[in-house]
Amino acid sequence: MESYRPEVMISEDEISLRIEALGQAITADYAGQEIVVICVLKGAFIFCSDLIKRVNRPLALEFIALSSYGDGTQSTGNVRLDMDITCNVEGKHVLIVEDIVDSGLTIKTLMQMLQLRKPKSVRLASLLFKPSKLKHDVKIDYLGFEIEDKFVIGYGLDYAGRYRELPYIGVLNAGN
Ligand code: IMP
Repeated sequence: MESYRPEVMISEDEISLRIEALGQAITADYAGQEIVVICVLKGAFIFCSDLIKRVNRPLALEFIALSSYGDGTQSTGNVRLDMDITCNVEGKHVLIVEDIVDSGLTIKTLMQMLQLRKPKSVRLASLLFKPSKLKHDVKIDYLGFEIEDKFVIGYGLDYAGRYRELPYIGVLNAGN
């Protein structure tokens, strides 16, 4: 079978070093506390699995699925809840783990939804952030990398369902 190798934007080693630092910061900030980690599917699954291995605190792992992109590279402008978490977060410290904050709509919608459930705190860890695209008021507490406005794939992120398995963050070019 023909092999494909999209251009590397952030290497496996760079990702791993950054996640180590994020894990240490989260471990320090949540001293003496338990965390409910909410992994936003599907894009954050690899980041979340690597991140929680570096968080030395008791935690419960939950999954939520939201979609706004359909199959293209532009947001549809609507966020749909495809799958909800299974636990009650009232009075709990919640850490959302997201792959990328682009316009910020997905995270803003998720934050508003979770706030109604009265958690003790809600923080956000995002692997990537495209500042030039931000349209909504979103605060990222633990950020992996700020990137320019390019459509990225790999390390969990997809284009039309493909490329999630790449071990690095790549850029999609014509021909991939
Ligand atoms: P936002 O709601 O505009 O912030 O978009 C967030 C969601 O869009 C992310 O969770 C991703 O699923 C998707 N997304 C945004 N930019 C990219 C990208 O460059 N590559 C892959 N997915 C992206």
